[in-house]
Order: sequence, then structure tokens, then C-alpha cells
Amino acid sequence: MPGPVGRGRVMRVLGIESSCDETGVALFEAGTGLLAHALHSQVALHAPYGGVVPELASRDHIRRILPLVRRVFEEAGIGLAAIDGVAYTAGPGLVGALLVGASVGRSLAYALGVPAIAVHHMEGHLLAPLLESPAPAFPFLALLVSGGHTQLVEVRALGDYRVLGDTLDDAAGEAFDKTAKLLGLPYPGGPALAALAEQGRPGRFRFTRPMVDRPGLDFSFSGLKTQVLTTVRALGTPLDDQARADIAYAFEEAVVETLVLKCRRALEQTGLERLVVAGGVGANRRLRAALSELMAQRGGAVFYPRPEFCTDNGAMIAHAGCLRLQAGERAPLAIEVHARWPLAAIGHRTP
Ligand code: KG4
Ligand code: ZN
Repeated sequence: MPGPVGRGRVMRVLGIESSCDETGVALFEAGTGLLAHALHSQVALHAPYGGVVPELASRDHIRRILPLVRRVFEEAGIGLAAIDGVAYTAGPGLVGALLVGASVGRSLAYALGVPAIAVHHMEGHLLAPLLESPAPAFPFLALLVSGGHTQLVEVRALGDYRVLGDTLDDAAGEAFDKTAKLLGLPYPGGPALAALAEQGRPGRFRFTRPMVDRPGLDFSFSGLKTQVLTTVRALGTPLDDQARADIAYAFEEAVVETLVLKCRRALEQTGLERLVVAGGVGANRRLRAALSELMAQRGGAVFYPRPEFCTDNGAMIAHAGCLRLQAGERAPLAIEVHARWPLAAIGHRTP
């Protein structure tokens, strides 16, 4: 149940996510947790095009956002006047899509006379495991694996982030999506490829693990996609179902092993004992199993958001926004979004 209303009440924040192809809205209350959350996925809208069409994404966010806002207030059983702030994703992402959530969020905060906060999408992902119980304590190592990012981040406190490793080309999710396309799988490719890999047999194909023989914590996944392409061409078309599944298995194995190896290296370098996994690829079952095993071997602990909070959602934005508002940060009145916005650029922003 929501906490007491009135002066000195606990902070309640409305969060809005619209950076890509999901409209996510949530209400978060400090100390209590999530009061309500709602999501509309545009997967069916973009599926015929094989990928996200930015203009269609923006228009659909416009259609969905206010009904979703109404729905979370109804579910939480509170009125607009019961919130103390509005958080919205301000980047990185598709500019038109971001502008929808940012305009609604900033304007609503202005109309209600409460502060607004512009949230970095990847900080939302990074802190999402804190929505779960038990929540990881700071400091921890975060593996951010989404459609646009593959990063290893040392997280010492809210806003104290050191990017230790990054991808030099494709992100892990992007590699899943592109490889899925090569195998003739429908958009969104990552989950489809993971499902196909479940039917795959180990050992028939083996792809080189990218960059594991070099020191450092950076990633590169575009070569893996090329290896898959070469294999598909060598086998000739049409590929039978078992061959596609075996390739999917070997691809997933190469990605998972690479991510695990770099996590182990980062843990050794930093001496950190807690690992947090976030972003859409964090929903991958094999990755979860392998990272759990790694942390069990090391005597450490691994933390994941529940699968629905691995992919884009409003809860992570409401939550990260609440922490930032509690730290005294405020967005200016101007509605600003950023298509590109390095995570390393956000520290403790002064109000
Ligand atoms: O975090 P997210 O929802 O959006 C971005 O911020 O990019 O991540 C989406 C990415 C997509 O590339 C999708 O294919 C991938 O996460 N993904 C998966 C799985 N579920 C989603 N990749 C592998 N296995 C999955 N189960
Ligand atoms: Zn995301």
C-alpha cells in the first residue's frame, strides 16, 4: 500500500520510458518499491519491417503514453496530486521517440508543480537489479548488455560509474539480432535465436571467441556475425532446421563464453565480489546460468532484474529517477533529449 500522504511523505515518482520500441510507465515509491507498472511493446508494429522504424515508433509512443499513465495511477489507486516527481528517459535512443516521453514527462511535472528528472537509459538498466530483493549493495561490477550497448562498469555509488570495457563495434544484442536475421528468424531476433539454440546440438560448429586472447575488457562482436554468414553460405541454402539450430547454439555459446571471460577478468582486476547483469541480453537463460556458475566458483554473488525488467521498461526509469531526485537533482524546464549520451558523462549532476 502507498505510504502516508502529506508533508514529509515518502517520495513517489512517475517514470516514463520511450527511447526505442517500448512505451513503459511506472510508479515507484521510495522505501516501498513499485506501486504499478505498464508496458506497451511495439514488436508487432515493426515486425513486418524486420527492425525498428523510428517514425512509426514515435507515433505509436504518442498513441500509447497517456492511456498507460492513466492505467498506472488507477492500478496504484492514487491521483496525480500524490506524486512528488516525474522521471523520463532523456537518452540515449531515438530522438523522436525520446521526445514523446520527455515532453509528456516534463510538461506533466510543470503542470503539477513537482520536479522533473532526466534519466540516462543505461543508468536505468544499471540500477534495475536494485528493484529486486535481495538488492546488491554498492560497489559492484555491472555487465550492461542491450541492443545498443555492451559495457562493463564499475559502480561505486549512485552516479559514480567507471566504464572498464566497451564494444568496439556491434553490441551483444545487436549481434544476436543480426545473426537471427541471417538465420531467417523474425524480429526481434535475440529471443528467437535463443529459443532456436535450445534445439541445437553442441559440438557441430565452433566459432572463434572474439578478442579473448587480447588483454583488456573491450568487446567486438561483428566478426562473429561474419563467421555465421560464412558458415551459412558454405552449407548452401535452404538450411535445414537442425543446421540452423546448431549454428544458433554455437553462436550463443561464443557470445556467452566471451561475456563470462571478460566478467571474470574485470572481477579479478577490480577485486569486486558482486556482479549485476542488466539490459535485454540479460534475459538470456544460458548467459544467466553461466554467470551464476562463475560467481558460485568465485564465492561471489550475481544479481539480475526479473526478465521483464531486463528489457526496456518504465520501472527502471521511475526507480533511477527517484534516487536522483532524492539526491537533490532536478531537470531544467527545457525539454532536452540526447541520441548519444555516454554513460561516463553522468556523474552526480548538480541541481
Ligand atoms: O535493453 P533492451 O530491451 O533495449 C535496448 O536498450 O537496446 O535490449 C534489447 C536487446 C535486443 O537486441 C534483443 O534481441 C536482446 O536484447 N534480447 C536477447 C534476449 N532477450 C532480448 N538476446 C538474447 N537472448 C534473449 N533471451
Ligand atoms: Zn534498454
